[in-house]
Amino acid sequence: MNKNFYITTPIYYPSGKPHMGHAYSSIVADIFARFKRIEGFNVLFLTGTDEHGQKIQKEAEKNKKEPKIFCDEISETFRSLTKILNLTNNDFIRTTEPRHFKSVNEIWKRLVNSGDIYLDKYSGWYSVSDEAYYDEDEIEEKDGIKTSKISGSAVEWVEEESYFFKLSAWQKKLLNYFEKNKEFILPQSRRNEVIRFVEKGLKDLSISRTSFSWGIPVPENKKHVIYVWLDALTNYLSALNFPDTNDKKYKSFWPADVHIIGKDILRFHAVYWPAFLLAAKLPLPKRVFGHGWILSDEKKMSKSLGNILDPIEIIQNYGIDQLRYYLIKEVSLGNDGSISMENLKNCINNDLANNYGNLCQRVFSFIKKNCNNKVPKTNNFKETDTKLINNIKDNIPKLIDLINKQNLNEYIKTVVNFSFEANKYFNDSEPWLLKQKNPERMNTILNTIVEQIKNISILLNPIIPIATRKVLNTINISDKDISIETIRKENIIDNNKELKNLDILFKKIENDN
Ligand code: ME8
Ligand code: MG
Repeated sequence: MNKNFYITTPIYYPSGKPHMGHAYSSIVADIFARFKRIEGFNVLFLTGTDEHGQKIQKEAEKNKKEPKIFCDEISETFRSLTKILNLTNNDFIRTTEPRHFKSVNEIWKRLVNSGDIYLDKYSGWYSVSDEAYYDEDEIEEKDGIKTSKISGSAVEWVEEESYFFKLSAWQKKLLNYFEKNKEFILPQSRRNEVIRFVEKGLKDLSISRTSFSWGIPVPENKKHVIYVWLDALTNYLSALNFPDTNDKKYKSFWPADVHIIGKDILRFHAVYWPAFLLAAKLPLPKRVFGHGWILSDEKKMSKSLGNILDPIEIIQNYGIDQLRYYLIKEVSLGNDGSISMENLKNCINNDLANNYGNLCQRVFSFIKKNCNNKVPKTNNFKETDTKLINNIKDNIPKLIDLINKQNLNEYIKTVVNFSFEANKYFNDSEPWLLKQKNPERMNTILNTIVEQIKNISILLNPIIPIATRKVLNTINISDKDISIETIRKENIIDNNKELKNLDILFKKIENDN
């Protein structure tokens, strides 16, 4: 069985400071990476920055900086964001690194050798902000400005000599591939969108530019730089030491298990990238998952609306686990979702403080008060106890399947429900009435509820790693035992060890008014 797992985020443009949308994609990918690790996989999780092209060159000029210096600075803010978000990425790639140049050169050579590249002239619309070419029928005029109907960003007319990739030749093969691999593009709505686009017919794609210089030169013609999307997509291979296809990393991790991206860059990942790979005679990634858009108070975040959410500020005020939990619980991964500070506060109070946090805290303080701070031993489980515990154990295959389909919302709903059930079990069993009357029964209830806290904490660990680790350490589960396997095991909690102290897990947020 292949126990390797490779997951990526988009590599972000270091054109301005990171915002909530970037944080979202990265957190989502991190949750999958963490889950696969505790499931027992050897995970490679890649993120990074996409540093070439006209957009970055222009932004650097605006800031009166050399592009490389400009990128060094902003790329660093993305790198430090990975720490602030508590990401477990194994690598951070920059497209200005030598390893990436080597890899892009090889891809270019392969496309030349397969006969998929020819020199011609491009004339058409180009959006610098999207780094994308648009057809006439994808353009509309808004307030006198030509814009892309798809992204809403301004386009300009471009006419220049350009190398082309014979994308048109790959239409049938792509459709064939989509047909055979029904879960290559998820969610299904995105898959349908891509299929419709490809069915309309594909035009050859301009893959080099001559009107600026910030990029990787075309090997045989230095007047041209390689189109930034061909450059950027290749990062997923560069990080595996491609072109050395005998390298251990390449062999273990290609093809990638899943590229996590936003729906704005679906066409690049689900059409261009597979076509490039087919032409280069390389295997295709197993999945492209295009998530929806994070909206700020129902609106798209934009500088002019002044509603750009700064993840760093929110994390400073509320905490990273809190933000991670909120984004996953309240935004349905495949769809657009609006977030607001009001909802964030409610979610922290209701879900984290009152439900999971409260469960842990009251159980541990009860044990401290009544059982010498040790989880009591027991053998007298009743059906209500085993039913509760087995419900989680029996659902492990289903939970793994949900993660493998990127169905994070169903996953978290299921786990939160376990936590509600556990709370209800504790309330209904009223162990506080049993200390004198039936201490044996009290012990069983406590044993059962700690078992549940352990299992719920493990399942929530990929989402709220800091809090769950504290809880698990409190009941003397060490970091190496934070795994799905530990849920399956019996008697893992040491009845002879005292519980460690646990500070407040989630502070309730007071309303300012
Ligand atoms: O497109 N909601 O980089 P980029 C959700 N360099 N996700 C959002 C978002 C929002 N409001 N805004 C941005 C690029 N994102 C290329 C990628 S990959 C080989 C090259 C996320 O800096 C989402 O993942 O514009 C989106 O696809 C990505 O940031 C775009 O980041
Ligand atoms: Mg963008």
